[in-house]
Amino acid sequence: MKSTPLTKNTIPNHVAVIMDGNGRWAKKKGKYRVFGHKNGVQSVRETIEAAAEIGVKVLTLFAFSTENWSRPKKEVDTLMSLLATSLKKELKSLQDNDIQLRAIGDLKNLPTKAQKELNEVILKTSTNTRMILNLALSYGSRVEIVNAVKSISKKVVNNELKIENIDEKTINNHLYTFSLPDVDFLIRTSGEKRISNFLLWQIAYAELYFTSTLWPDFKKEDFFNAIKVYQQRERRYGKTSEQIQTNE
Ligand code: FPP
Repeated sequence: MKSTPLTKNTIPNHVAVIMDGNGRWAKKKGKYRVFGHKNGVQSVRETIEAAAEIGVKVLTLFAFSTENWSRPKKEVDTLMSLLATSLKKELKSLQDNDIQLRAIGDLKNLPTKAQKELNEVILKTSTNTRMILNLALSYGSRVEIVNAVKSISKKVVNNELKIENIDEKTINNHLYTFSLPDVDFLIRTSGEKRISNFLLWQIAYAELYFTSTLWPDFKKEDFFNAIKVYQQRERRYGKTSEQIQTNE
């Protein structure tokens, strides 16, 4: 069957992905959970390539949540060393493809080695412009919002900001994602239909896409198929369909 082509003018600017199902994928194969994470790296690679290929400007990947710290130590250690080795390995490919790496989350909680690799790749790719690859690491959206409220409150107390001047932009400017556009499209793999404390503020108007494919099975073609679904959605932002069609 010939698949429908992607339409160039409706590529989402910012795609966010909850990469879920590594553990179940491994279990189905009779292996340990970490086998799933190791195989998930190839899906990360393919998703980055696919996103860059079609002109996505920002790709945010949920790689490790604040809640993930409570997993068994061996699993956490494996994920952290996978992160460090993948960053080291992928630097050349990020450079060759003009991709800039960024990270959001409580990064100071990451092991020193992971922090070192991360900072090095962030620095070395900082002038790349084709796409931003934004890794959410030790990330939790509620903590992010709490921190934003704290910084805003400090400014109010110090008379740097008036309460009546606080608006959506103020909140936005105090989030980890302050310099990034809102999320247009959120993908979650593995069949779970929840947001799990990911970019709660930033997905206010995002289109949501849930697929039962487990993350290690999610390949380039799956990403393109998801984008095709996005392209069939009508984003109304609270307006009527008629208003959108007549550009009112
Ligand atoms: C969720 O599957 C996946 C994660 C918590 C980690 C994702 C990490 C990777 C794909 C590898 C390394 C990442 C980078 C950026 C190089 P799960 O363990 O929750 O699966 P389950 O729901 O089936 O248990």
